[in-house]
Amino acid sequence: MTPPDRLQDLVAQLRPRLRNVLGVTIGKGGEGKTTTGVTLSHMLSQEQQNLAEQGHEAKPVLYIELDSNGNGRLDLKVLGGEFDDEGHSFVGAVTEDKDFTVVRNVKPYLDMTVAGPANSGLAAEISRLASKYAQAPYLMLAMLLAQISHHYAWIVVDFSPGDVSVQRLGLAAVTHLVTPIKNADDGMLGGLQTIANLVAEVRLINPELGIAAIGFLGFKKIDGKATGELDIVREKIELLLERAGLDPNLVMQDHIREAPKLATVSRNNGMPARELALAANEMLLDESGNPVPRPRYDNGRLVEPDKALNLSEDWTKFTGDVIDRVMSRNNELEGAAA
Ligand SMILES: Nc1ncnc2c1ncn2[C@@H]1O[C@H](COP(=O)(O)OP(=O)(O)OP(=O)(O)O)[C@@H](O)[C@H]1O
Ligand SMILES: [Mg+2]
Repeated sequence: MTPPDRLQDLVAQLRPRLRNVLGVTIGKGGEGKTTTGVTLSHMLSQEQQNLAEQGHEAKPVLYIELDSNGNGRLDLKVLGGEFDDEGHSFVGAVTEDKDFTVVRNVKPYLDMTVAGPANSGLAAEISRLASKYAQAPYLMLAMLLAQISHHYAWIVVDFSPGDVSVQRLGLAAVTHLVTPIKNADDGMLGGLQTIANLVAEVRLINPELGIAAIGFLGFKKIDGKATGELDIVREKIELLLERAGLDPNLVMQDHIREAPKLATVSRNNGMPARELALAANEMLLDESGNPVPRPRYDNGRLVEPDKALNLSEDWTKFTGDVIDRVMSRNNELEGAAA
C-alpha cells in the first residue's frame, strides 16, 4: 500500500499539470455526455485552428472517452476505420504500461483516444488493482495525462456512470467537471447527486476537483428563450445544489436547444454541430477544396441551413461560458497554490 503522505505528495505534484483537463460526466446514462464532450472538444479545437491561422501559438485538443459504447468514434467518424482498435491500446496504456497512442487530427487540431468494447475490462482491472494498492490505481490516468498535458490546449474526458472505479479514475484525472442534463426526471437528479457525492469523496486523490458548469441540452427554445419546463428543472437542480452545499450559479443560464433529428444526423455523419452547420450552408470544404454535399436526414430531406446554424451557435455560447468558468476556477486554484 502507498502510505497516505506519499500519495499526497504525488497528488500535489500532479495537480498543476492537470488544470487544462475537463471531465464531462453525470451519474446516469444518456444525458448527453458524449455529445457534449465531442462538441466541446471540437469547438475548442476550432478556436485553436483560428489562433494558428492568425499566426498565434496554438495547440491541439485531446478528446478521451472511457465508456465501452465508444460512441465518440461515431461522432468523430473513426468507427470501424483503420484507427479503431476498440479501445485496446487505451486500456493497455492505463492498466499495463503500454504505449499511450492517440489518433491525431481526427478533425483539424483535434486528437482522440479510441474507446470501445475493450473498455469494459477497465472497471474490473482498476478494482482488482485497488484491492491491492488502495487509492493509488485511481491515479493511473492522471499520471498518464500529466505527462502529455503540456502538448494540449485542453483535454476533455467523457466518462461513464456505470462503474465507481472508472468514475474515480476519471475524477482523479480531471480538474473541472461539466455536467450535461437532458432529462427532467428523478433519475437525472439522482445522477447529479451521485456526482456531488463523488466530488466530496475523492478529495484525497483530487483536492482540486470541482463542478465548473451544469448545462442543459435538448430542451425547447422559443424566441431564443427557455420554456416553463426548463424553469422547473432548473429550480429542482438549484435546490439540490444548495442542499449539497454547492453554488446554484453552477447552473448555466443559456441552454442547447432541442434538436433530436439534427443530433442524429450529426452523429451518423461524424460531424459535430459546427461542421454540420458549415456543411448545411455549403461552406465545409473537402480535401480538394470543394464543398462537401449538404447533409440529409434519414428520410432524404436536406438539413435546413438555419436550424443547423442555430444549434451550432448554442454550442458556441455554451463553450464560451464553460471556458470562462474554467479559467476563473483556474485563477482561484493558482492563487491558492501560490
Ligand atoms: N440538442 C439535442 N436535442 C435532442 N437530443 C439530443 C441533442 N443532442 C444530443 N441528443 C441526443 O441525446 C442522446 C444521448 O446523447 P449521448 O450519446 O451524447 O449521451 P451519453 O450520456 O453519452 O450516453 P451514454 O451514457 O449512453 O454514453 C443521443 O441520442 C443524441 O442524439
Ligand atoms: Mg456516451
